[in-house]
This record gives sequence, C-alpha cells and structure tokens, in this order.
Amino acid sequence: MSPVAPGASGDGLLIAPAAPIVAVEHLAKRFGTIEAVRDVSFAVAPGEVFGLAGPDGAGKTTTMRILAGIMAPDGGSAVVAGIDVLRRPEAAKGQIGYLSQAFSMYSDLTVAENVAFFGDLYEVPRNTLAERREMLLRMTGLEPFQRRLAEHLSGGMRQKLALCCTLIHRPRVLLLDEPTTGVDPASRRDFWRLLLRFTREGVTLVVSTPYMDEVSRCDRVGLMYAGSVLALDTPDSLPATAGPVVEITSDHPLELQASLRQRSDVWAAEVFGGGLHVYPRPDGPDARLLAETLRRSESAVGHVEVVRPGLEDAFIVALLGAGPDGGSHAS
Ligand SMILES: Nc1ncnc2c1ncn2[C@@H]1O[C@H](COP(=O)(O)OP(=O)(O)OP(=O)(O)O)[C@@H](O)[C@H]1O
Ligand SMILES: [Mg+2]
Repeated sequence: MSPVAPGASGDGLLIAPAAPIVAVEHLAKRFGTIEAVRDVSFAVAPGEVFGLAGPDGAGKTTTMRILAGIMAPDGGSAVVAGIDVLRRPEAAKGQIGYLSQAFSMYSDLTVAENVAFFGDLYEVPRNTLAERREMLLRMTGLEPFQRRLAEHLSGGMRQKLALCCTLIHRPRVLLLDEPTTGVDPASRRDFWRLLLRFTREGVTLVVSTPYMDEVSRCDRVGLMYAGSVLALDTPDSLPATAGPVVEITSDHPLELQASLRQRSDVWAAEVFGGGLHVYPRPDGPDARLLAETLRRSESAVGHVEVVRPGLEDAFIVALLGAGPDGGSHAS
C-alpha cells in the first residue's frame, strides 16, 4: 500500500491530512526471518480516530510500539506532534499516551493511587495532578470507586482506569493497542463512548482492534496483514474495494462451504450469519453468473442472491488478494 496522497475527500473528512499529528513513513521491522512491519505509511489528522485492523500477527503491536518510542524500527520514520519519535523518544513520550496490549496497573494500589503513580511517573506537577485525576475519574465514572483496590475492579472498570493512567499527563495522541480485547460488549460500547468524548477534547486516537464493530467507529482504518497495510480508507468507502458477493442461505452451511471450497470458480466461501458469502475469483465468472451456476449445481443451497459487499467482505477480499496463492487462508 502506498501512502495516501494529500488532499481531502468530497464528504469533508480528511483523507490524508495536510498537517498530520502522526506521520509514519516506510516503517520496517524484522525479527529474524519474520517481517513484522513492511513499508508501512500513514498519516493521522489532529482529532481523528485512526484504526489499525488485522488478524493475529499482522504487525499492529509492533507498529504501535515503534510509534510509542519504545522499539526502534529497522527503517522508516515516525513523527508525533512534530517530534521525531525515533530520534527523540523521551520528548515524544510527553505527547503520547500508550495503552499497551499488556498494560498492567498495580493491583495492590487503589484506583486513585494508580492514577497518581502514573502522574508521578510522567512528572505531572502535584497541584495539577489532583485536579486532572479528579476530572478523569469523574469522566470515566470511576469517582465512587477511587478507594477500591485495582484488583477488585471488573474488566471494564480496569480498562477505564488504564485510560485514566494513560491520560494523566495530557498527551495529545493516544495509542491504544487492542484496548477492549476480553472486555464484554456492553463495557466495550461504554469504553468507546468515553474515547469519543476524549477526541472531542482534542485527543487524537490511533487504535488497533480485531473487532469489526470497532473498525466502523473509526474515521479511517488501515487493514494490516503480514506486516503490510493492504487497504486504507474510511469504513464507509472500504466495502467498495470488494466486488459484489454471492450470499447463500443454507440449512447445512458447513457442508456447503466444504463443497464450494473444492470449486475452481470460487475464490473463497465464508460462513456469514445463517448462510455463506461466496467470493468469485477475480479472473473467473462475475457474481451474477456464479450465483446462477451455484443455484443449479449445488444441492445444499437455499436462497441465492448477489449482494453489495460489507466491511467484513472488503477485509476478506483484501486478505485473499494478499495471500501467497490467492487462496482461502482468510477463513
Ligand atoms: N519481540 C519479538 N520477537 C520475535 N518476533 C516477534 C516479536 N514481536 C512480534 N513478533 C512477530 O512479529 C509479527 C507481528 O507481531 P505483532 O505482535 O506486531 O502482531 P499483532 O498484529 O499485534 O498481533 P495480535 O493481534 O496477535 O496482537 C508476528 O509474527 C510476531 O510473532
Ligand atoms: Mg498485538
């Protein structure tokens, strides 16, 4: 994926910010033979919610670590709030709040003590710390629990406390690495409402996620796979990057899937809800023709219809296109 060209989209949303607060160019990182990050470039506008989505091992955490200034890349550049993160990581840390995938707070400290601890770590002056902590605890709804030991918090509350600890030094850019993994859906919604309140206060978000519903909350999203950004656009525009798909209802979706995967005119067949989404090969028959063929030749099909692709379809098609054999590893 080449870096996005400067300019603005027709709907007024910045597609590539002229004055980005985060600018990553040609980032590369290798671990032995593994290319964890390959030629990754993107730019984020102030106040934007930028998502990095992708399966396990895509390179999301490695990208985040480089951006946070805690890992040196093999090549490329990363600038946050005008500071070169690679040359001046300590200066950049003042502008960055980094919530790592493995963020840990002190379980034997209370909620308030944890926030104060991180305030001291970031050298927040004592007089502003109390005021700032009070504001963060109020915003996150943790105020009534400030004397509770962190070990007695629920998963959702723990994430909110982590957010308070990460925001105590007033960073301009928040890097969140899979912040809601393992958190229940209601708490995830709650957490996102909170994140969007912080963006309204001017904080820029770069967030990695494996969840489609979170992808759709971002202003723009980059799909990462095997170290590369395969597609980068708004969640509304991404589906158009995939062609029409064939939707099939079936009483026996798994059997039908197995049968479809044997066919040379089918690129991939994935279970969707109560049925399947079938992707025609780029060099094969179009979706309409494939739908007709499958209706006639497959026994386990119910209703067959050609539908417009959604966000998940766009991701599957992008992953298929990136595969070494153009094969069906996206399942
Ligand atoms: N310190 C390391 N040493 C060796 N290999 C590593 C190291 N860190 C990451 N990798 C490898 O680099 C690749 C990218 O890993 P990374 O953690 O960035 O992916 P990810 O997208 O965050 O995945 P996940 O969704 O599982 O968190 C993987 O193949 C991983 O095994
Ligand atoms: Mg990760």
